Amino acid sequence: MRIDIISSLPSLFESFFASSILNRAIVNKIVKIKIHDLRDYSENKHKKIDDYSYGGEAGMVLKIEPIAKCIQNLKKKRKYDTIIYMTPDGDILNQKKCNELSQKKNIIILCGRYKGVDQRVRDLFIDQEISIGNYVLSGGEIPAAALCDSIIRLIPGVMNNESSALFDSFQDDLIAPPIYTRPENWNGNKVPYVLLSGNSKKIKEWNEEQSRKLTKKKIKIIK
Ligand code: ADE
Repeated sequence: MRIDIISSLPSLFESFFASSILNRAIVNKIVKIKIHDLRDYSENKHKKIDDYSYGGEAGMVLKIEPIAKCIQNLKKKRKYDTIIYMTPDGDILNQKKCNELSQKKNIIILCGRYKGVDQRVRDLFIDQEISIGNYVLSGGEIPAAALCDSIIRLIPGVMNNESSALFDSFQDDLIAPPIYTRPENWNGNKVPYVLLSGNSKKIKEWNEEQSRKLTKKKIKIIK
């Protein structure tokens, strides 16, 4: 899989993609991430990428020209399955969308900043708009990083224990059961006995029951 990220603050991604699971996926060539600095596509001598909005609303707007140039350059080189714009008014990201995107070959993610991008970018170049929640961050970089993490970890071969992503909360619309590790007893707080029993059938039943209970309890929060 190849992900091209278009950003006006590319340095924000450096440590993110240098860390553990994602870095391993890159080193093992399972995924290729290319970060494009929007300023490199500005033809303005000051590398300007934003401007005031028509109509006088406060806040700067990312201009269409550098974004168009970057996307058009990329599209000349390969076919993209989808071009995503990260924006707080997009569709809220969920596990189903992550699964779907993890099967794509080439995607472009455009990060907004300031007031957002010129509407014509959205109209002409964007296939889908994604939000990571109903709150506003100062740019689309953290949302883009969250999206990349959520999809890359699903690609076969990325996680150490490949099957573990399948048991994540929200796969099958269920929340994962509680998990415990050593010690068995911490200041009188004990690990549920069934998990120590070695009885795999009982453990499976317990996990499923906990999943169902938790999902029922928390479903209002998810929706
Ligand atoms: N840009 C700013 N806030 C955002 C959000 N919540 N989701 C996606 N992109 C954003």
